[in-house]
Amino acid sequence: MRTQVAIIGAGPAGMFLAHLLRREGIDAMVLERRDRAYVEGRVRAGVLEQVTVDLMHRLRLAGRLQREGLVHGGTNLSLDGRSFRIDMAALTGGSTVTVYGQQEVMRDLFDAAEADDLPIVWNAEDVALAGIDGERPTVSWRADGVDHQVACDYIVGCDGYHGISRAAIPPEVLTTFERVYPFGWLGILADVPPADHELIYANHERGFALASMRSTTRSRYYIQCGLGEDIADWSDDRFWDELCLRLGPDTAAKVTRGPSFEKAIAPLRSFVSEPMRWGRLFLAGDAAHIVPPTGAKGMNLAVSDVTMLGEAFALHYKHGSDAGLDGYSARALARVWKAERFSWWFTSVTHRFPTMDGFDRRIQMAELDYIRGSEAAQRTLAENYVGLPLTGGI
Ligand code: FAD
Ligand code: DHB
Repeated sequence: MRTQVAIIGAGPAGMFLAHLLRREGIDAMVLERRDRAYVEGRVRAGVLEQVTVDLMHRLRLAGRLQREGLVHGGTNLSLDGRSFRIDMAALTGGSTVTVYGQQEVMRDLFDAAEADDLPIVWNAEDVALAGIDGERPTVSWRADGVDHQVACDYIVGCDGYHGISRAAIPPEVLTTFERVYPFGWLGILADVPPADHELIYANHERGFALASMRSTTRSRYYIQCGLGEDIADWSDDRFWDELCLRLGPDTAAKVTRGPSFEKAIAPLRSFVSEPMRWGRLFLAGDAAHIVPPTGAKGMNLAVSDVTMLGEAFALHYKHGSDAGLDGYSARALARVWKAERFSWWFTSVTHRFPTMDGFDRRIQMAELDYIRGSEAAQRTLAENYVGLPLTGGI
């Protein structure tokens, strides 16, 4: 078996890349450890930046997004129950974000892949990379008890934080940077109308809360929780009570309670692994970097990585130039680090840290009050939140 680009992982990074390469007439195949239902069923990101929406349009995948996505021109910050709005569209010359769940994005990517006969191997076990430091790399895997191998020109590791691709790069070549946060997010989904038509990021003495949504009839709420907490201790009633306390009485009055049908705790981490290329292996998305979810950058970063990589492969295969492939790691990391900075900063001004004393708390309050009163501060937040442009072209 032979292909030009072997892609490990059928998450957002792998599937967007597969579609981008198909559009350029480049052969690719995707190897995924799980089945489609599992990947599509994972409840994850919910907010798309303009770069992600634009890419879905370019790939002609935006039909449902246009009908069902909720375009948000603003977002809200709240401090101890008092909220204020950031008019992102007005502050950025018209940029917006779109609420459309990662599960919906995956469904659109998989439906289109099926229609276009994009080769995806589901349930690929023991995926292994070989020869990435030479001219002829290979990927092997087992499916239904049978061993398979594909020879390729390049491998792209889109296999997430726990994948095998990053580990295939010799440790002496890699530098990793990490912050682990001393709390997690407890998130629920419930089929009740959202408290507000836009998101509310709330800093409260008791900890962070976020009011989000998936549609006008489905709410997504998160509260900061301790890392050692047991989900079994969080009845729906306890969750709603704590959420309402943190959002404050005005917003709490607009919260519709109802049974949750999804409830999970996610840890928060900042992580970057450099470089994002070694030999014939490229890394994209969570395989190379993780952000804490405050600011909703995770999936969008995966999309900007593969947009750059798609351009680089097109330049290589259509014009014989390696400039894009050679510059990929530096170009992608420049944008990654800015999103890392924003996600870290937004986490640090909105969460309660266990080591915080009165001084730290007042600095947080002063910072949020400064944002409330300063158009310059709001513009900085807005341009990062809607997503920075893909600069540094090839
Ligand atoms: P992934 O989505 O992780 O996809 C990687 C794929 O590779 C998976 O399908 C996996 O099964 C496959 N794979 C792994 N190992 C192998 C292997 N050895 N062989 C073959 N296939 C393999 N972001 C936000 O912006 N907002 C959020 O609210 C949010 N919530 C999140 C909640 C959780 C629990 C997690 C884990 C992430 C969340 N994120 C969120 C982050 C966002 O979902 C990710 O940034 C995004 O999914 C990254 O896409 P990716 O394609 O790089 O990686
Ligand atoms: C959602 C998640 C985020 O991390 C965020 O910043 C905004 C919204 C969500 O899941 O809806």
